[in-house]
Amino acid sequence: MSLDVKQRLIVALDVDTRTEAERLVEALEGHVGAFKVGMQLYDSEGPEIVRRLMQRGGKVFVDLKFHDIPNTVAQAGRVMTRLGVFMYNLHVAGGQEMMRQTVAATHEEAKAAGVNPPLVLGVTVLTSITPQQLREEIGIDRDLTEQVVKWAKLAQKAGLDGVVASPQEIRAIRQACGPEFLIVTPGVRPAGSQLNDQKRVMTPGEAIAAGASYLVVGRPITEAADPAAAARAIVQEMEKAGR
Ligand code: C5P
Repeated sequence: MSLDVKQRLIVALDVDTRTEAERLVEALEGHVGAFKVGMQLYDSEGPEIVRRLMQRGGKVFVDLKFHDIPNTVAQAGRVMTRLGVFMYNLHVAGGQEMMRQTVAATHEEAKAAGVNPPLVLGVTVLTSITPQQLREEIGIDRDLTEQVVKWAKLAQKAGLDGVVASPQEIRAIRQACGPEFLIVTPGVRPAGSQLNDQKRVMTPGEAIAAGASYLVVGRPITEAADPAAAARAIVQEMEKAGR
């Protein structure tokens, strides 16, 4: 990827209020590529928080993981497009038809509005799911990584721009889907930092070296005494991995 490395760092704004989100954005503007607004912040502040972040010049990844029938998700994709987000995501488990219709609706809406279409990402197997749960609860008898790769390929075939994947899955997806397919990776921890509830982590350098396109980092930056300094240190690690 030829993007400026800083552009490949996305900070998860996992807070409840606009005030907290804007305090973080103020500290981090110019140091990172985009901000991720997930259910916690979106469900408390609504689309207005996304508009406000974009008015400040920020790029926003809306992480709401849509999973519904094709028409419903396609209409949600139109809403994301009109809102002007940089990325949004849906569950690949919703099926090929749902993904195809959503990509088509997103592109159609972007054309009508004269804006760039958002990047559409697929969520494969949630990283909180263990191989045992996949087999016994969800009823999928395949090896977990094989299932992730199968769904990443389905997402690619349906026209999605990429997937969200854990660090452990980057290499297999990169190999199966080629160099252009986007891999957005959470579960990243700088060497020596707290793991919090993340278990299978990689450092920013390792994730970039494995082939990640974008890294999503939350607490190591948002809970740092100096968030901008924490972000700069991560960007430096990413630069050293140089890809
Ligand atoms: O604070 P931390 O760096 O763990 O935040 C990572 C972000 O990425 C959180 O918003 C979390 O919900 C999200 N995420 C994740 N693992 C996934 C998918 C999303 O940690 N598999």
